Amino acid sequence: MDSDTATEDRGTATDTETYTVTVRTGDTDVELDVQAGTILRDALRDAGYSPHNLVTDIVNCGGQGHCATCAVEIVEGDPPAEAVVDTLLSVAGLGRVSCTIPVDRDMVVRL
Ligand code: FES
Repeated sequence: MDSDTATEDRGTATDTETYTVTVRTGDTDVELDVQAGTILRDALRDAGYSPHNLVTDIVNCGGQGHCATCAVEIVEGDPPAEAVVDTLLSVAGLGRVSCTIPVDRDMVVRL
């Protein structure tokens, strides 16, 4: 399975449950309907957004939680950090590691 496009279910929600992930870019908000348990990075990429910059969009760990280049700002609906790398970035105020976050609530994400 290609980890760049994989949708991994880490949550306990049912397959039919969905949440709204609002993607904020500049002054524009776009709402995505995301199946519960979908990894945030995958949901963004599946919708044509990237949490990476120009270089790290090419060179990254593929969503394995090793490179921390997929950090995003979660403006609303900030879930608790589960992965060490996510905890470290969050505590440092450098964003959240989107490949470590299963969507388990509505959230607003700034890219
Ligand atoms: S893509 Fe490497 S940590 Fe998320």
